[in-house]
Amino acid sequence: VPGHHQQMIEAHDLLRKFYHHLLVNTDEGQHALEYLESRGISRESIEKFQIGYALPTWEFASNLLQKRGFALEQMEKAGLVIQREKDGTYFDRFRDRIMFPILDHQGNTIAFSGRALGADEPKYLNSPETPIFNKSKILYNFSLARPSIRRQQQIILFEGFADVIAADRAGIENGVATMGTSLTSEHVAIIKKNAQLVTICYDSDNAGVEAAYRASVMLQEAGCPVKVAQMPSGLDPDDFVRKHGEEKFRNEVIGSSSPLMSFKLHYFRRGKNLQNEGDRLQYVDEVLNEISSLKSAVEQDYYLRQIADEFSLSLEALKQQASHNSKSKP
Ligand code: UTP
Ligand code: MN
Ligand code: MN
Ligand code: MN
Ligand code: MN
Repeated sequence: VPGHHQQMIEAHDLLRKFYHHLLVNTDEGQHALEYLESRGISRESIEKFQIGYALPTWEFASNLLQKRGFALEQMEKAGLVIQREKDGTYFDRFRDRIMFPILDHQGNTIAFSGRALGADEPKYLNSPETPIFNKSKILYNFSLARPSIRRQQQIILFEGFADVIAADRAGIENGVATMGTSLTSEHVAIIKKNAQLVTICYDSDNAGVEAAYRASVMLQEAGCPVKVAQMPSGLDPDDFVRKHGEEKFRNEVIGSSSPLMSFKLHYFRRGKNLQNEGDRLQYVDEVLNEISSLKSAVEQDYYLRQIADEFSLSLEALKQQASHNSKSKP
């Protein structure tokens, strides 16, 4: 690790500790603590995830870093402060936000994401890409989740911070998050190297379902077995835990994750009216395409029967069409 990387990490570690102290021990942090409480985030989670609070002032971090001997020019490259054009002085990037430290896979603090307490935009303000933070290579919570991932050979993939933390509270400790960005091939490589099964548990809104589909295709193409957890429409995992409780989340969401093909059957239905003949034929065609790409003949048979039953089609015709599809594949 080059020396300037080490300094950037030290600066992040220092701020992480201060932000956390401000949240849990000071009057200025009280309203932020109450906000977290209102979201059901426990003191235990605040400690485990080292959550903090950045003051509304403009120069808390810049003054602290300078006093501790960090060069502000370098701290700007680390994404912590921003230089004013008019006089060259520096101000803090993160102000009046709940601070989520982002750790690299060895456990060093390399970035932050700050959540607005109210309706400020953006909802989450993130560190930019820096010499120590490359979002496409980092999975949030991987360093803490690693032992549990190892033990279970399983990884649960979430969209965001609150989801990982709510799942952890529910006893699901092998959760990581892509932090809103789409899954990258680097993420896929990390997942594949560390687990034998991945369960995608994205938000149950349009964006989440589309992202889950894309992620499942990437993981499948990389040869990584995938399941998909499904939740009532409109909820995300954190909403679900708060609304229906930890036990239901463990049993009915994570424990009842569907095989990838069941998710796809559901995915291709979206936006179609299956009473309508054209939509129905298109659906059957899309689904046959997927089924014909299954390697196991038993699985193929299982889903073909399901389609045959549902649409009163002959199993023979479906089989023929499926084998035609798989032959015409490049
Ligand atoms: P969501 O929009 O689903 O937010 O984005 P959330 O996690 O449910 O947030 P809460 O529950 O309202 O606090 C999922 C993830 O996308 C990233 C964050 O990592 C977030 O957790 N994101 C979202 C950003 O980076 N910036 C944003 O402005 C919004
Ligand atoms: Mn503490
Ligand atoms: Mn979302
Ligand atoms: Mn969400
Ligand atoms: Mn949420």
